[in-house]
Amino acid sequence: KVVVVDFGAQYGQLIARRVRDLHVYSEIVPCDISAEEMRAENPSAIILSGGPASVYADDAPTLDPEILKLGIPVLGFCYGQQAMAVALGGTVGHTDAGEYGPASIVRAGASELLAGTPDEQTVWMSHRDAVTAVPAGFTVTSSTPTCPVASMENAGAKLFATQFHPEVRHTEYGSAMLENFLFEICGLEPTWTMGSIIEESVAAIREQVGDKRVILGLSGGVDSSVVAALCARAIGRQLTCVFVNHGLLRKNEPEEVEEVFTRQFDVDFVHVHAEDRYAALLADVVEPEEKRRIIGSQFWKEFFTVAQDLDGVQFLAQGTIYPDIIESGARKTGGKASTIKSHHNLIPFPEGVHFDLIEPLDHFFKDEVRALGTALGLPDHIVHRQPFPGPGLAIRIIGTVTLEKLSILKEADAIVREELDAYNAAVFAETGERNSERSVWQYFAVLPDVKSVGVMGDERTYAYPIILRAVESSDAMTADWAKLPYEVLGRISSRIVAEVPGVNRVAYDITSKPPATIEWE
Ligand code: XMP
Repeated sequence: KVVVVDFGAQYGQLIARRVRDLHVYSEIVPCDISAEEMRAENPSAIILSGGPASVYADDAPTLDPEILKLGIPVLGFCYGQQAMAVALGGTVGHTDAGEYGPASIVRAGASELLAGTPDEQTVWMSHRDAVTAVPAGFTVTSSTPTCPVASMENAGAKLFATQFHPEVRHTEYGSAMLENFLFEICGLEPTWTMGSIIEESVAAIREQVGDKRVILGLSGGVDSSVVAALCARAIGRQLTCVFVNHGLLRKNEPEEVEEVFTRQFDVDFVHVHAEDRYAALLADVVEPEEKRRIIGSQFWKEFFTVAQDLDGVQFLAQGTIYPDIIESGARKTGGKASTIKSHHNLIPFPEGVHFDLIEPLDHFFKDEVRALGTALGLPDHIVHRQPFPGPGLAIRIIGTVTLEKLSILKEADAIVREELDAYNAAVFAETGERNSERSVWQYFAVLPDVKSVGVMGDERTYAYPIILRAVESSDAMTADWAKLPYEVLGRISSRIVAEVPGVNRVAYDITSKPPATIEWE
């Protein structure tokens, strides 16, 4: 495997994903890793990421110089190049003008890393500091007018570095450089494919589980569905999937989940009809966080009621994915053991109940989880399901949640999804990209707690409006309202008012995040 040393700001994640795109497995470690710990990781190659700091800042992350002497090939990008230079006795200084964005590098000497790429080419830079003197044994392999050491290497010691960012798409030959490093310099093979991933995961699950039983809470979301499909492949009916139906999923979703996990996969499927219990618990609740708390804690009650009745269950499977692990910092304090512990604290096990966790997706990024789902035969409507909040439609009904309002919202939301699924499919057909700039990322209906006057036929109506929310985003941290064609907006509006009794008006939310949020509660 390749180990990516992360100097901060998620640069490491992007690099790890690029390496995996080339079918080589990679993992991320924090930059305070010692040479001893690195040796224990036993990587075939090390990549040092960029980072937001200046190497001379007081709290600048440093690299254990011994890591560069382990005999493992190392490639450093940006801050990684500077950290490598400083660790080996070179110098780094402020340049007069930083370089941000595209820059043109010119080859300055023979280079194994840049082999096969043009002598002059466009790369992506983002720095103010730069290496001013290379360490002994290194040669400068390319430069720009403002950056004398755009890349350097000591091929004999298998140490390579670039000031620019080969991991971003704007670096024209970035991928070729990564390939040079992984395949030519380190001699790795591109064997990490979907087929090998499934084979290894299935073997690992079988090994861990043995002849014991596993229980899993199925939500209908991507992660829990892929865990279920993977476990189904590995252990079949030793897996019990508990689907707690809180009545707050979208129209037809409970039926679709049941269909997939009873017909397509051979697992023990338990459908818990908890709709009435949730409705009673939510009857007078208005405050959004209170709704979330009630829905979350009731889930575990329902889940453990089933779990306690099953014999011989030793494991609880969870859809934890790699970013959850990286972002929780769990990796930092010693890998898997601490991760499992921190999760365990979050699960409200009843007195005397205990399960060991199995988390087969804990080293996969979201797009890899989706690819895995597709390879395992899960349908597109699950694998490419848009983000949907755990508390479901309860937080899309402003004010109290009633069965009448739920029914209105489900019908209106089904129309929104039908129209915008079709719109996205048309954009996908045209652009070939699932999340192109023109496609809509998340889209749904909201039912506010007001009524307004309308007229239908000769009659005055006094009914609910539906608010349409449709946003473009890549990570939900920021979002912009989707500039949908008027025809699409018009069709959604006419259909909702005509087809959903109790609704006489449709409004479109044209607020970005920030200052608004994507959801209304
Ligand atoms: P906001 O509304 O904060 O939402 O802009 C950002 C993303 O998170 C989703 N969301 C939730 N997901 N439980 C979840 O699992 C929740 O309570 C929750 N609240 C919001 C939201 O749909 C959007 O994708």
